[in-house]
Amino acid sequence: MPTSGQSGSRSHPARSDNPYLPFGDRRDAPFYGRDILSVRQFDKVDLRYVFGVAHEMREMVARVGSFDLLKGKILASLFYEPSTRTSASFTAAMERLGGSVIPISEVHYSSVAKGESLPDTVRTLECYADVIVLRHPEVGSAALAAEYARKPIINAGDGVGEHPTQALLDLFTIVEEVGHVDGLTVTLLGDLRYGRTVHSLARLLSLWDVRLRLVSPKILRLPPPLLSELIARGVEVVECEQLEEVLGDTDVLYVTRVQKERFENLDDYERVRGAYVIDAATMAAAPEHMVLMHPFPRVGEIHMEVDVDPRAAYFRQMEYGLYVRMALLAMVLGKA
Ligand code: CP
Repeated sequence: MPTSGQSGSRSHPARSDNPYLPFGDRRDAPFYGRDILSVRQFDKVDLRYVFGVAHEMREMVARVGSFDLLKGKILASLFYEPSTRTSASFTAAMERLGGSVIPISEVHYSSVAKGESLPDTVRTLECYADVIVLRHPEVGSAALAAEYARKPIINAGDGVGEHPTQALLDLFTIVEEVGHVDGLTVTLLGDLRYGRTVHSLARLLSLWDVRLRLVSPKILRLPPPLLSELIARGVEVVECEQLEEVLGDTDVLYVTRVQKERFENLDDYERVRGAYVIDAATMAAAPEHMVLMHPFPRVGEIHMEVDVDPRAAYFRQMEYGLYVRMALLAMVLGKA
């Protein structure tokens, strides 16, 4: 249901009502004042609520661009790792809601460079801001920050751990593009070992009756504890190395980048980089209804010739991220 005018976008009927209504039985500001650290915090009722609010945000942006729901509120945007989409969309989300942002994306120019600890940095920022978005290279860093902070911490990616807001926007994309989740066959392709977005998304998808196809080189398989968790939840999982084995049955193909920065041995990286490339020939062999997603950045996994294919949803996916992050900010600040 794109509004962005991206080339290749599908046409969807305009909806004036909110298809996520009723939100469920939790209308009492369920995330007010809370941290968002992991997708494990969300059940299906919560997700319906988030998506309902995101839908409202989308309609408001289409109608008026920005509005003053969070006027007077300040977001501290603290990024110890590079980001384009997550940092820019949180900034855009805050500004479209009438709030403002303290951007700290070059931590080397902050007191972090003098050796300041993460607990001290977040306790400093909360003196000035109402909510902190944190990206950090270490697993558990957002949880550590939340232990010390009184204001809400939103995890924007903790190393190879989780990226919960990405997973929420990914799931929102699937719901908006397909209309449902139950019964889908979702293929996760690429770096399933280090790809925190697939870790979070797989967990969220396991709340539904889905089939997962995990396609990766052997050394980049999904971490065994997560695989066991999915199977214990009743998800039908197939692991393989060749996309061709599962492409024909795939409803949603979620492609990921092989993350060079996570490899201890660069020879290993060289062996698996470029293992999968989605091009026009791949799309010709894929189902007509398939939705193609990628959290981006891409570094060659999807050829640019695919961008005009209506099934390529990755730029729409980025836009959905704005609405989901607007919803999350409004929710943790008690305005949704
Ligand atoms: N998808 C994602 O997290 O992108 P960035 O690294 O650009 O934020």
